[in-house]
Amino acid sequence: MFTAEQAEIQLSRRAHLAAGQPISTLMAQALANPELISLAAGFVDQASLPVELTGETVREMFADPTAARAALQYGTTVGFPPLREALLEWMRAQDARASRYPNLTTDQIVVTAGSNQLLQIVADTLFEPGDIVLCAAPSYFVFLGTLANLGVRTIGVATDEEGLVPEALDECFARLEAAGDLPRVKSLYCVSYFDNPCGISLAEDRRPRILDIVKRWSQETHIFVIEDVAYRELRYAGDDVPSMRAFDETGDTVILAGTFSKSYSPGIRVGWGVLPDALVEPVLAMKGNVDFGSPNFAQHLIHRVLQSGRFDAHVERLRGAYRVKMDAMLAAAEEFLRPLDGGRWIAPRGGLYVWVELPPGVNAGPQGRLFAEAQNAGVLYVPGEYCYPQEGVRKTNSLRLSFGVQSPQNIRRGMEALAGAVRRVTGQ
Ligand SMILES: Cc1ncc(COP(=O)(O)O)c(C=O)c1O
Repeated sequence: MFTAEQAEIQLSRRAHLAAGQPISTLMAQALANPELISLAAGFVDQASLPVELTGETVREMFADPTAARAALQYGTTVGFPPLREALLEWMRAQDARASRYPNLTTDQIVVTAGSNQLLQIVADTLFEPGDIVLCAAPSYFVFLGTLANLGVRTIGVATDEEGLVPEALDECFARLEAAGDLPRVKSLYCVSYFDNPCGISLAEDRRPRILDIVKRWSQETHIFVIEDVAYRELRYAGDDVPSMRAFDETGDTVILAGTFSKSYSPGIRVGWGVLPDALVEPVLAMKGNVDFGSPNFAQHLIHRVLQSGRFDAHVERLRGAYRVKMDAMLAAAEEFLRPLDGGRWIAPRGGLYVWVELPPGVNAGPQGRLFAEAQNAGVLYVPGEYCYPQEGVRKTNSLRLSFGVQSPQNIRRGMEALAGAVRRVTGQ
C-alpha cells in the first residue's frame, strides 16, 4: 500500500515544458523590489489609468438595476453581443481606407479575457507538437512561451526597421519546402503595430505582400497569419495604417487579436479576436471548455466606455503621457548609450518599448554579467534573448526596455545606471 506521502506527483508534459517561463518572474521581481527602476515589465502608466471614467461608468451601470444584474450574471462563450457590434463598427472605422469589411459579421468576433487568452485558445485549437509557426525575430516572448509549451517549433524570420522582411519570409518558406517541412507550417505570427519587443510597425506596403506570400505557400496545409494588434492605439507619431486583416479580402487567412489592456486598462483585461469563418466553431468549442464566457462585468463596462464617446479622448491623453516618456527614454539613450562604442537602438513611433543592441560580445542574457550588474546598479531590463524564436538568429547582446511605467526622471536615472553597468562589463 502506498501512502499519500509516498505517492509520486506526476505533472503533465506541458507543465514541464512551462517551467522557467520568464514573464511571471520579471513581473514579480519588479513588484518585489520597488527601489529597483524597472524598465522591464510592460506594465502601463499608473497615473493615466482611467480611474474617473471607470468609476462614473460603473456608477451609471449600477444606477440601472437591470443593467447591473445583466453585467453581474454569466455571459456567453462568444461574448456580449453589443460589444461585438461595437468592435465591428470600430474596425470598420479604423480600416476604412483599405476595407469596409462587407463580409465581416459579429459572428466572427469573439471577446476574450485579454488578447493573451485569444492567442492561447487559437494555439490550442490549431497546433500539434512538431507543427511550425514562423515568427518575427524577435517576437512577443509570452506567446513564444505558449507555443513552446505546446511543443510547437518556432522559426524566426528577419525583421528590419519596417518590420518583417517579405523576401526573408519567402526564403524561409522555400527552405522549409526543400526540407520537406512545409506541411508542418501552420501560421505566421506578427505584432503589426509598434511591436513587443522592438516598437516597430509593419510598413503598410508590406502588409498585402506578406499576405500574398503566405497565401501562395498555403498549399497542402492552410497557413494562417496571427495578427496581434495589441499596441495599435498607442501611436505617438505618424498616421494609423490599415491592419493586415483589412488586406485579407477572402477573410480566410488572418486571425486578428486585439486588446483594451494597453489602450484602457489591463486590470479589466478585455480582448477580442476576429476569426476566419472556418475557425469560429472550433475556437468557440475550445473556449467553452476553458471558461464558457470571459468575465461579463468587464465586457459590459468596456462596452459602456466605448458608447460614452469618451474612449477616444482617453486614448488621446494616454498618447500625450507616453510620448513624453518615450522622448525621455530616447533622449537618455542619446546621452548615455550613444557614447558607448557599438551600442544602437531603434527609435519607435508608438508602443511601450525600445529595443537596444549593445556592443557585440556583451552578454545581456539572464545568466550574463550585465543582468546582475544592472540590478546591482538599480535597474531591471528584459534580456533580449527571451524574445527569439527557437530557430534562427539570436542576439544575446540585445535587451528590451519599457518606458511605460517609470517617470521621465526615473527613466533617465535608469538609463544612466544601465550605461554604467555596460561600461563596467565592457571595461569602457
Ligand atoms: C504583443 C502583445 N500581445 C498581447 C499581449 C497580451 O495582452 P492582454 O492579454 O492583456 O490583452 C501583450 C501584453 O503585453 C503584448 O505585448
